[in-house]
Amino acid sequence: MTATTDLVATADQLVATGQATIEGAGTLTELEDAERALLGKSSALNEIREAIKTVEPADRAAVGKSLAAARNALEDAVATRRAALSADARAASLVHDRIDLTTGGRGYRRGHLHPVTRVWRELEDVFVGLGYKVAEGPEVETDWYNFEALNFPPGHPARAMQDTLYVKLGRPEEVLLRTHTSPVQVRVMEAQRPPIYSVMPGRAFRRDTLDARHSPVFHQIEGLAVDRGITLGDLLGTIEAFIHALFGPDINARFLPSFFPFTEPSAEFAMTCVFCEGKGCTVCSGTGWVELGGCGMVDPNVFKAVNIDPEEYTGFAFGFGIDRLVQLLYGVDHIKNLWDGDVRFAEQF
Ligand code: PHE
Repeated sequence: MTATTDLVATADQLVATGQATIEGAGTLTELEDAERALLGKSSALNEIREAIKTVEPADRAAVGKSLAAARNALEDAVATRRAALSADARAASLVHDRIDLTTGGRGYRRGHLHPVTRVWRELEDVFVGLGYKVAEGPEVETDWYNFEALNFPPGHPARAMQDTLYVKLGRPEEVLLRTHTSPVQVRVMEAQRPPIYSVMPGRAFRRDTLDARHSPVFHQIEGLAVDRGITLGDLLGTIEAFIHALFGPDINARFLPSFFPFTEPSAEFAMTCVFCEGKGCTVCSGTGWVELGGCGMVDPNVFKAVNIDPEEYTGFAFGFGIDRLVQLLYGVDHIKNLWDGDVRFAEQF
């Protein structure tokens, strides 16, 4: 028979050393290990429980009591230590995972419009200020809008001046990528009766080889005014007004006689070179002028094609390249830089 006093003494002893181990646990994992060792199946406490069978039946209650007390004391110690370690872990993670909401952050960069888009919109604004409306037409056109209605008869050599990209649709050479924005004139005149004051910006396409100033894809803005009593003087004054609006009073317009099938008389117009202010430099090849586009009085044959009476109405039209203007304004030497899609180029503006 085992002595009751021995077992009770052992239990008390276990509580003393056990409490020290528990309090010494530095982490929750260490605490779990200690808990298993002190209170688990193969613990010394469990051995005492097994040993109860070996004491006098009358004394078993006393051993059981001290066993329960020992177990409670150790469980309390574990709970207390667990609470303390959890609080420590939480405090540590608060420090470790702390986010400083007062720092500036990475921020984001705001983009800006492409220079061609910007000039396109500035041009629209100038003409809207002069009382014009903005209209647009399709980039894929028919021969009728791009040539025929504009008084280019079939087989006329003027068609050859505009190297055309045809689309495999309809009859041969019936559908094409518009070679200029002038077909939108026809669409606007079909859709509404005079008075008409419209500008028509958009993309145009020609079978041109890429060089510093020519690209197979480019942008134009077309202008059209149709009303009673419109004169050549109105055309010249309008072009001068928009050049002054964009570049200021020192930059002037110049007109040279030219030919377009859909205007009569026709002219090419230029503006004072903005780089040398007319003195002559490399940009303007020493002439002091930079070519912008074409213009003229609407040919009566065009009015007939859209059922406007040329006896009652007269009008003027003009068209010029937006890309060319952007090259001049921003000093872009090669037109391909505008369309390479290289963000480093666009970022400079
Ligand atoms: N469409 C002509 C071109 O692209 C320019 C132009 C427009 C000429 C309007 C006269 C009138 O060359």
